[in-house]
Amino acid sequence: MTTVYLNGRYVPEAEALIPANDRGFIFGDGIYEVVRAIAGRLFEWEGHAERLANGLAGLRIEAGALASSATLRTVCERLLAANDLTTGEATIYLQVTRGAAKRVHAFPPAGTVPTVYAIASRFVPDRAMRADGATAITYPDLRWARCDLKTVNLLGPVLARQAAAEAGSYEAILHRDGWVTEGAATTVFVVRDGVLHTTPLSTAVLPSITRTVVLACAASLGVPVHEAATALADLPSVEELMVVGTTTDVQPIVALDGRPIADGRPGPVTRRLQAAYTERLYG
Ligand SMILES: Cc1ncc(COP(=O)(O)O)c(C=O)c1O
Repeated sequence: MTTVYLNGRYVPEAEALIPANDRGFIFGDGIYEVVRAIAGRLFEWEGHAERLANGLAGLRIEAGALASSATLRTVCERLLAANDLTTGEATIYLQVTRGAAKRVHAFPPAGTVPTVYAIASRFVPDRAMRADGATAITYPDLRWARCDLKTVNLLGPVLARQAAAEAGSYEAILHRDGWVTEGAATTVFVVRDGVLHTTPLSTAVLPSITRTVVLACAASLGVPVHEAATALADLPSVEELMVVGTTTDVQPIVALDGRPIADGRPGPVTRRLQAAYTERLYG
């Protein structure tokens, strides 16, 4: 039986009930995070907590101490302990919505209490896929103009990942106006002319925590980096392609839209970044 956290209480999952008029359900009016835990240690907690706080501020959800970094860190640690997840690997999903209120688009009355929910789950990385590489498709970026906020509105990624699944692929690489933005649930890195490229941060992409770690790995390895988007037209001919994320690590992409990238095997820069990232994750 899974124990989850809801609004200050640790309860069996089946008892974690929210009102049907919760604004997360009605409007997608909320922010979420996914955090990785290794042997009970939260990986890059500060980055996740800061992004969550920025997202809440961006939506003007005033959760205060209910969703402070200290509160949520304690919630994560207690959920790991309560669910026997202090050994091995786990993920923790955190969600904060503007709370339950009569369905009116504008903000609810002052005093409406945000809903705070969290669940910890066993996580087993797909080591064979990390080693061998995965495939991806390209897909239009259908999302809104504030993709820097990690909101629970995920219809663009849902449709993109479904298209990927139907194509037998792991990820959908999104593009807008002829340029790669990011993956449906990952950040995209490519190697072009020996230089590692990734789309610069803006309101068009999520400020990925893994992106920051991978850039630090590149710096420590002396891999040259250029934060510049890749044209969709150039993507099939890049030297290396990879997607990164909290539950994806550094994942080589060896074929795109059914055609191999380079020789169809994970490239040397990808391998070096993978090794450096693995060291930081587990070290
Ligand atoms: C759209 C998008 N980009 C990038 C990422 C990777 O972010 P992170 O490294 O913080 O997991 C995610 C993760 O869910 C995502 O949804």
